[in-house]
This record gives sequence, C-alpha cells and structure tokens, in this order.
Amino acid sequence: MKTTVSVIKADVGGWPGHGTVHPKLIETGNKMLGEGKNKGIINDFHVTHCGDDLELIMAHNKGVDNKEVHSLAWDVFKEGTKVAKEIKLYGAGQDMLKEAFSGNVRGMGPGIAEVEFTERTGEPVIVFMMDKTEPGAFNLPVYRMFADPFNTAGLVIDPSIHSGFVFEVWDIMEHKKVMMKTPEEMYDLLALIGAKERYVIKRVYPKKGKLPENEPVACVSTEKLFQTAGKYVGKDDPVGIVRCQSGLPALGEVLEPFAFPHLVSGWMRGSHNGPLMPVSVKNAKCTRFDGPPRVAALGFQICNATLGEPVDLFDDPAFDYTREKAEYIAEYMRRHGPFEPHRLPLADMEYTTLPDVMKKLEGRFEKA
Ligand code: 13P
Ligand code: 13P
Ligand code: MG
Ligand code: MG
Repeated sequence: MKTTVSVIKADVGGWPGHGTVHPKLIETGNKMLGEGKNKGIINDFHVTHCGDDLELIMAHNKGVDNKEVHSLAWDVFKEGTKVAKEIKLYGAGQDMLKEAFSGNVRGMGPGIAEVEFTERTGEPVIVFMMDKTEPGAFNLPVYRMFADPFNTAGLVIDPSIHSGFVFEVWDIMEHKKVMMKTPEEMYDLLALIGAKERYVIKRVYPKKGKLPENEPVACVSTEKLFQTAGKYVGKDDPVGIVRCQSGLPALGEVLEPFAFPHLVSGWMRGSHNGPLMPVSVKNAKCTRFDGPPRVAALGFQICNATLGEPVDLFDDPAFDYTREKAEYIAEYMRRHGPFEPHRLPLADMEYTTLPDVMKKLEGRFEKA
C-alpha cells in the first residue's frame, strides 16, 4: 500500500492583522484532525502555522485528491472561520472563496501539496511552508536542490542521482504544463522558471533508476488565488513537500538553497519584493512591514504512513547568518519606499490606486 502526505493550508483569520495564527485555530485543527484520525480518514497529522496561514499536515493511504481527506481539511477551515469570526480575528475566512464543498479543495481557496509514494526503508520528508509570497518563490530553491551541482554535491558524486531529474513546470496563466529533463534541458528550464510569477515548478520526478519514475519526489502548491476568486486577493503563501536521501538529494542538500535569502514577491499588501527569510515555526510570524516573507521547514521520518514528531529544521544557528543577511536586504529594499523594484510592477500588485489617480488627472494630461 502506498503512503500519501498531504499538506493543505488556508488563511482563515490573522492574529493580529496578517501576523500569525491564533492558538484557538491550532486547537480547532488538532481537535478535528484527531477526530478524523479516530474515524480512520487519516493515519496521522500535525497542525502548525507559518505566519497567518493554518497548515494541516496529514499522512494516510488514500492517495492524492481524496474526497474524505479534502473534506476533512475543508471542515477544519470552515470551523476555523467560525472561531475566527467569534473572536474577531483579522480577515476571517480570507481563503474560503467558495461556499460549498464539491469533492476536493482544489480551486476553492486553500493551497495543496500532496505526494503519493512507495515508502522506502528510510523515508525522510521535509514540509516547507511560506508566508507573504507566491508559489514561484519555490522555483529557485527547488531548481537548486534537484539540478544545481554547486548546491547538490550528489548530482556529481552519487551514482543514484547522477542522471538528474524531471521537472513538471506549469504555466499558471495559460493552464498548461510541460515536462523538462535536467541536466539536458537545464538552460531551457531556467528560461521558463526565471519568470517566477508565470512559470512554476509543480512537481519533480526521478529518472529511470532506483525510484519509481511515476512517483513525485517534490510537489509545490500552485492554487493561484486570483484564478479562483476572479481577482487577486492574496499571494498564495505556498507550501511544498520534498522527499530526501537514497536516490534523492540529502536532507542538507534540500535545505541548502534556503541559506541564500533570495528575493521573492509578496510582503506588504502582496505588492513588494523582499528577501525570503528561513525561520523556526516559533519565529514564523510576520512583523516588519508585514514580513519579511518567511519560510519554515518541518522534517519528518515517515513510518508506515505516519508522520511521527517533526523536527523544526530552521530552528538552528546554522541559519543565523542567512537571517542576518535577510534583515540587511530587507532594510536595503525598504529604503526604496514606493519605488520599484521594491514595489512590484503594476501588473503584479494586489492593490492599486492607479485607476483612481488617472481619473483624477483626466483632462490635465497634455500632449507632450
Ligand atoms: P551519514 O554517513 O551520517 O549517513 O551521512 C551520509 C550523507 O550522505 C550525508 O550527506
Ligand atoms: P496574507 O496573504 O498573508 O494574508 O497577507 C496579506 C497582506 O496584505 C499582508 O500585508
Ligand atoms: Mg492574512
Ligand atoms: Mg498568509
């Protein structure tokens, strides 16, 4: 029987503002997923948060897009919204874009990353959770894990991964996807995924060899909110699942890309570029200018479709230097105030006053 890890997340109310998740919502998640476990819907779970996003991490044997599992997550978010309204959390129900559940939560507001795989004798899995940014924020780190020999030593020295990987890239505007092989198509792949607001890495697969070719080894949530709501109501604050070791990059090779706090879009009002800062779950709260954008990582050693206890991987002084650098970059970017490239280009902003400003100036524009 195969094992499935599902991470389903939503912002159902912030505390305070878009800062973090209220303990009552975590409590709601624990209680309801506990009931789901007792009913046999899932085998194991861990409820946590990154910034103001409630994160449900679940292990089961039911495969991806399973109705019972998705419905359980949806019910947690619905109940969470009720609690959030009662205690007047900020933006209660923010990501609950549709009213009625129709089989799976795809396209309803929440973000989803799921992988189904044959459990190896040792199965380390990392769940990455980001707040105040978009799915394309995963492009650079996932590329580096699976395709960059300067990041992943194993690509050069481990015979089991030397042949490379296959990337599934989505065009999130045209709803198309393409499979691309590395190292053969590295440059073509980079030509796409460098445009991270449009082309996103959805999954990574192994090539023929040690692991089944049809079982993903990495998956990123890509539920672009503006597609579902008809307008852009929040950067997606994506999650990702990455399996490690034995035919895959080592744990440390998967974490290594996050030692560079690369620039991502999101941050204040979903309309600014800023550095992605790796933090512990305890520090996964957004403060300075509603950020800077954060990423937390929980490591699990999967056992017979159970999660066991997580290890908070960025809760480590080894990432202090990165955090310091991120703070330095945050300060540098902030000094630009309302100017690009701190503020996003017009097309990528979630808020804009430009139409109103243009209306006000109508009639005052002269031929130049
Ligand atoms: P161990 O010898 O500690 O198992 O580590 C192997 C490895 O590949 C570390 O990257
Ligand atoms: P969230 O997408 O995390 O709710 O943040 C929205 C925002 O506007 C932050 O400034
Ligand atoms: Mg919010
Ligand atoms: Mg958020």
